[in-house]
Amino acid sequence: NMSMYVTPEKIRKLADEKGYIIVAHNYQIPELQQIADYLGDSLQLARIVTKIDAKKILFLGVDFMAEVMKVLNPEKKIIVPVGYSTCPMANSLTVEDVLKYKEIYKGIPVVVYVNSRTEVKAVADVVCTSANAIDVVNALDSDTILFGPDKNLASYVAEKTGKNIIPIPGETGYCYVHNYVKDSEIKKLMSKYPNAEVMVHPEVPKNIRNLAHFIGSTSQMEKYPASSKANEFIVVTEVGMLAKLEKLYPDKVFIPVPSMVCYNMKKNNLRNTYLALLEEKIEVTLDSELIAKARKAIERMLEITE
Ligand code: 13P
Ligand code: SF4
Repeated sequence: NMSMYVTPEKIRKLADEKGYIIVAHNYQIPELQQIADYLGDSLQLARIVTKIDAKKILFLGVDFMAEVMKVLNPEKKIIVPVGYSTCPMANSLTVEDVLKYKEIYKGIPVVVYVNSRTEVKAVADVVCTSANAIDVVNALDSDTILFGPDKNLASYVAEKTGKNIIPIPGETGYCYVHNYVKDSEIKKLMSKYPNAEVMVHPEVPKNIRNLAHFIGSTSQMEKYPASSKANEFIVVTEVGMLAKLEKLYPDKVFIPVPSMVCYNMKKNNLRNTYLALLEEKIEVTLDSELIAKARKAIERMLEITE
């Protein structure tokens, strides 16, 4: 088992020797968070990469995020440790689904969550993230919006904007990590930590949202404790987020929901990350026409929210 011998320091050294910048999502294991030059949510990361000179990026996250990075940085070389780290929710909405709904609801704008296939972004009008979904939907000149693939984020956005949000593909669009949290599990933590505030990601269902003191994306969750008087927080999102929060706020206490693990985010480990740098074999490549189309929907979001 090579992970016995691969240390975070060893990976860092190899990345520096080979001129790679390491970019990681907030849900990566703590040892990988530790070696990242940039750690954040998917959109933050893709945008940071447009602003740095480095030509070679090692990305640690899931495939649609690596692809967003490539779409915004087509001239850069982007490598990943494994080619099969994906997001089941992103994969739940197909191009055929979107085309079908566009046919039924002619002229209605299609908003897709950044957690979607690049091919799906290419047939959508505009992309959004969990941090800006409400702003994007409010900015569109239509009271009815087709929105996918996350039905829970869709319901949250409908609640906040008062618009008629039609979830696509519908009941089957959700993140298994966030959708199956039990309110009994959160209530148990709330009674164990009565002074704790509950932070939730908008990918959770409404019954969990109702328990929250704060609702936000991972990038918003990392800012919230600074403005709160509370010292304890129950963190209702993927457990990887805990390492980041603990590092940012060493004096505050963060309580994880142990059932919330994204197995795809955890496919990257010290061993395969080291091998990725050694071999530089798994590179993100996308067709230039696909890049141009997906980029349009992403840029429309950036125009709205920048
Ligand atoms: P953020 O955009 O909040 O980082 O979320 C990404 C994700 O995959 C949520 O499950
Ligand atoms: Fe996809 Fe959920 Fe994993 Fe995020 S936590 S990458 S939405 S499966």
